Amino acid sequence: MTDAKGFVSRAVCAALVAAYPMVAYPMVRQVVDIAAMANALAKGIETACAGRAPFSFGARPENPDDPPVLIELRDTEWAACISPISIPPLSLQLNYLFVDLKMNAPSPTKDNAMTKFQSDIQDRTQAMGADTKLQTSALAFLQSSAVAEYSYNFHWMGRPIIQYPQDIVAMQELIWEVKPDLIIETGIAHGGSLIFSASLLAMLDMTEAMEAGQTFDPSRSARKVLGIDIDIREHNLAAIDAHPMRSRIEMIQGSSIDSEVVAQVRNFAADYKKILICLDSNHTHDHVLEELKAYADLTSVGSYCVVFDTLIEDMEEDAYPNRPWGKGDNPQTAVRAFLQDESRFEIDASVHERLLITVAKNGYLRRVR
Ligand SMILES: C[S@@+](CC[C@H](N)C(=O)[O-])C[C@H]1O[C@@H](n2cnc3c(N)ncnc32)[C@H](O)[C@@H]1O
Repeated sequence: MTDAKGFVSRAVCAALVAAYPMVAYPMVRQVVDIAAMANALAKGIETACAGRAPFSFGARPENPDDPPVLIELRDTEWAACISPISIPPLSLQLNYLFVDLKMNAPSPTKDNAMTKFQSDIQDRTQAMGADTKLQTSALAFLQSSAVAEYSYNFHWMGRPIIQYPQDIVAMQELIWEVKPDLIIETGIAHGGSLIFSASLLAMLDMTEAMEAGQTFDPSRSARKVLGIDIDIREHNLAAIDAHPMRSRIEMIQGSSIDSEVVAQVRNFAADYKKILICLDSNHTHDHVLEELKAYADLTSVGSYCVVFDTLIEDMEEDAYPNRPWGKGDNPQTAVRAFLQDESRFEIDASVHERLLITVAKNGYLRRVR
C-alpha cells in the first residue's frame, strides 16, 4: 500500500467528535507523517471538544479513482491520541497519509447528543473528584463493605461473581469498547466472572451478526474467555460445565505464574488478535507483579489489563488478618512497581474516577503503545 516514495495511495478513516457548534473551517488538504498527523489530530480533537464544535477527520485516496480502504495504524502515538474517541480500527503499516481536516458546521445529530452526554460525564467526574465529602464517604463505604464481604453478594447468569457491581458495569463498558476476541482471566473461583465475560462475548457475536444481516450458531464462537485458577473446585467446574456459556470458556488449572501455565496461556493467545486481561487471583505484591510480567504484554494496544483489588492498599492495616496480602503488599503496590519500567501502559483514571466505588482504583491499565 506504500509506494517507493513512502506515500500512501489509499486510505480512509473517519471519526466524529461533536457536541455544540462553534465555527466552520474550510477543508485543508495535507500530506503528513503519522506522528505529525497524530499530534495534529489530537490537538484538533482537543480543540473540538473544548469548543464543543463538531470535528471530523478523514484520509482520502491519493488517486480519487481508488476506492477508500480501512486501515489500522500500528503507530503508537496514533493509538494514544485516538484514545478519547472511538475511531474504527485501521490496519496497515503506513508512513504517510493524505488527510483532509475539516471542522464542520453544526448538525444536531444523535452522535452529537451522545458526545454532549460524554462530556457531561467528564464534567461530573471532575466535580465528584473535587467533592471531598463524596470522596470521603465513597472510601468509607469501600472500607466497611470490603470488611463485610459485600463483593460476595452477587451473581451473573446464576453463578456467583466476586466483584462489586460498579466494576462489573465498567468491565461491560470496556468489553463493548474494545470488542476483544480473547479475554484472559486469572482467578476463576465460582466462575461468575468467566460467565460474565463469555456472555458479553456472545453479545458481541450477536451484534456483529445483526449488523451484517447474518444468522449465526450461538454455541460456536471464535471469541473465547480463558480462565486460570490454581484450584478449580469440582462443584464449580460442574456448574461451569453445565452453563449455556460454556462453549466460549477454556480453563487451565495451575498457578497463574507457573512457567508451564504461562507458556500454555501465551500459546493459546497466539491465535487471537484483540486481547483483554483481568488479574484477580492471589493478591500479594509479588504474585500480581509476576502476573503482570507474564501476561500484560498480551494486552492489545487500545485494550486493557485490569488489576483487581488494588483497594487493599486503602484498607486499614489490620483489614486482612488471615491473608498473605495487606497494606504495602497488594495489587496496587504491584501496579506501581510494574509501571515504573513500563511505558506501554497507562492508568485510565477516568474509569475509577467515574465509578467512585471500585476495588480497582488505578487498576484499569490501558495499553497505549
Ligand atoms: C477473588 S477469586 C476470583 C474471583 C473471580 N474472578 C470472580 O470475579 O468471580 C480468587 C481466585 O484466585 C485463585 N488463586 C489463588 N492463587 C492463585 C494462583 N497462584 N494462580 C491462579 N489462581 C489462584 C483462587 O483459587 C480463587 O479461586
